[in-house]
Amino acid sequence: MLTRRGFLRTTGTAGLAATAAFTDGGLARMHAAGRRVAAQPTASVAADETYWREIQQAFTLDRTIINLNNGGCCPSPRVVHEALKRYLDISNQAPVYHMWQILEPNIESVRRRLAAEFGCDPEELAITRNASEALQIAQLGIPLKPGDEVVTTNQDYGRMLDTWEQRVRRDGIKLTKISFPVPPKSPGDLADRLIGAITPATRVLHFCHITNLTGQIFPVKQVCDEARRRGVKTVVDGAHAFAHFPYKASDLGCDYYGTSLHKWLLAPIGTGFLYVRRENIASLWPLTPASASRDKDIRKFEEIGTHPAANHNAIAEALTFHEGIGIERKAARLRYLRDRWAKRLAQNPKIRLHTNLDPAQSCAIGTVQITGVPTPKVVARLWERWRIIATPIVHAEYEGARITPNVYTTLEEIDTFAGAMEEICAKSAEL
Ligand SMILES: Cc1ncc(COP(=O)(O)O)c(C=O)c1O
Repeated sequence: MLTRRGFLRTTGTAGLAATAAFTDGGLARMHAAGRRVAAQPTASVAADETYWREIQQAFTLDRTIINLNNGGCCPSPRVVHEALKRYLDISNQAPVYHMWQILEPNIESVRRRLAAEFGCDPEELAITRNASEALQIAQLGIPLKPGDEVVTTNQDYGRMLDTWEQRVRRDGIKLTKISFPVPPKSPGDLADRLIGAITPATRVLHFCHITNLTGQIFPVKQVCDEARRRGVKTVVDGAHAFAHFPYKASDLGCDYYGTSLHKWLLAPIGTGFLYVRRENIASLWPLTPASASRDKDIRKFEEIGTHPAANHNAIAEALTFHEGIGIERKAARLRYLRDRWAKRLAQNPKIRLHTNLDPAQSCAIGTVQITGVPTPKVVARLWERWRIIATPIVHAEYEGARITPNVYTTLEEIDTFAGAMEEICAKSAEL
């Protein structure tokens, strides 16, 4: 076996540079930190700043801004971004050879590892460019006749609702959007509303695993099991769920599931996946047509023409980084950060939280309103005065600033945000 010294002797300075890059920014420090806290209960690691400092150092960030919009898309850790650049450099030598023949076939390793993390068969998982593409394959590919009904909510993602609306115009299907309060009465109430909306014409239920508006987690299994019993297919929008909090496909029981990987997995921008339960693959039309010989092959959904192999291959490094932290530890830290600002602000009479802090109902995402102050003004003030990025959510039934920290967020950043909100509350008359 090649020892470290032997490796350096044989590779010379190039080897030295590679070793330095690995120990500086790579996985070695993260794994060492992980070993140190291995025996600690998850809840105590969530508050262990020495551990999280190692994770914070794994990113190349602009710390002059406080990015509390990790719901849009996220920066990748250095090790993932370096892999993306490396794969692009390799591709650019002779793309027809280096990209198509060397890199592209390795998408199968990514499929295998994503499937293991999600808990499905690799033959049920297609790699896409984002959650929109994944979900639209399902939404536009399920055969539906005029008059067939799709039931969803008025808090589902705008693009996904637009997609169904287009089928209303194009195919004459019926779309029903139910409403629910924020925070909801209970997870059971959410399930009752969705199930209660099913009619004899309903063919599909489409809803979020976790909403982007308030971070509400849905009782997915309860809804999917009942829908299945009634012969209704389920499309679950998991854009915000994968690698955010622990679950497996068997905890969901859905027919189709689409997620982004440039959100919580911290994979390169332009990555996602679609899960299709095996029995549905043959009947689901791909968005970009494929040969009839691939009708039963999950890869028929990846027939998108020439595209960079770098993006989807660097998902492998993101998975390694993610597994290095561990999903239980990650979710506990995200809830710890969210609770730190949310519980402090909840003391203020002007604050209204639209997110239920029960761990079964939410994780990193929280939406908060300052009553009497229009949310766009709150968000603008946070940016102008403190360089804090938050997302204004203005829904027909409520509004608030959506706050999404990530594993690289520091306590100082969270406390600055909470202090800023208190100051805005105190001076709300001036806004
Ligand atoms: C709930 C939800 N669904 C779908 C999407 C679309 O994801 P993507 O931008 O990866 O296509 C988003 C993006 O924010 C989202 O929040």
